[in-house]
Amino acid sequence: MTRGRTRCGAQTPIIVLSGACTFQRPGVYKDRKPLLQPPKPGSLCELSGNPGQARQVTEGKLGMRITLRGFEIFKGRLDAPAQRALIAALRPVLQAAPLVSPQTPYGKAMSVRMTSAGAVGWYSDRKGYRYMPQHPQGTAWPDIPQPVLDIWDDVTGLERRPDCCLVNYYGEGARMGLHQDKDEADFSWPVVSVSLGDDGLFRIGNRTPGGSTESIWLTSGDVVVMGGEARLAYHGLDRIRFKSSRLLSKGGRLNLTLRVTS
Ligand code: SIN
Ligand code: FE2
Repeated sequence: MTRGRTRCGAQTPIIVLSGACTFQRPGVYKDRKPLLQPPKPGSLCELSGNPGQARQVTEGKLGMRITLRGFEIFKGRLDAPAQRALIAALRPVLQAAPLVSPQTPYGKAMSVRMTSAGAVGWYSDRKGYRYMPQHPQGTAWPDIPQPVLDIWDDVTGLERRPDCCLVNYYGEGARMGLHQDKDEADFSWPVVSVSLGDDGLFRIGNRTPGGSTESIWLTSGDVVVMGGEARLAYHGLDRIRFKSSRLLSKGGRLNLTLRVTS
């Protein structure tokens, strides 16, 4: 598997943090100006963890964007009606491809329940982490709903579209340990993540195991682009604030990650 190659040529780099390469449509951010103050503690953009790391907050056509170690976090990118529309679009996906509890290759049940939409879906069991052409129940994965693809188009501007939308559901107490997304064939494509429902404490590490980490609360409607230097960075979800949002009637957090796998 190739590692760490980036495809920066076709896009316009817009941030100058540790040589970050971003995947934004050229010209979209011309009007961005840095905010004078970082977000207030307790605000939507509340940050926790190790202060003093490179981060940048900008305001532009796609709303407020925080850049943290190359992760581009679009706070509140989806308003409440857009979040509800997304949930409605995901309902048939969850009916056709029910959530399952994958096991790690070491036989440990994951606390997050998962399913996918797209040509392939991500799955894990004793055989290892991989993309599969079918749901474990033996049916094709449903198509990625159009409103989900629209988000990818908005934040990446890329012509190629994802072939997998992994749907993670975090119920009370669920978490995801630090990991790299590295089951894809070509890491030059970004991964785009969409948060819906309860708040989740997202932790960002480095491209190698260990070292310092930083965390940020992701709230419903936030969209994160993991490209360039962030593409192979360790990340995970420490915990959720169960029932902090009313988007899902039973509580919990849905996270979509859009990937180009081949
Ligand atoms: C993931 O890394 O697959 C999920 C991240 C998240 O839940 O925000
Ligand atoms: Fe991930």
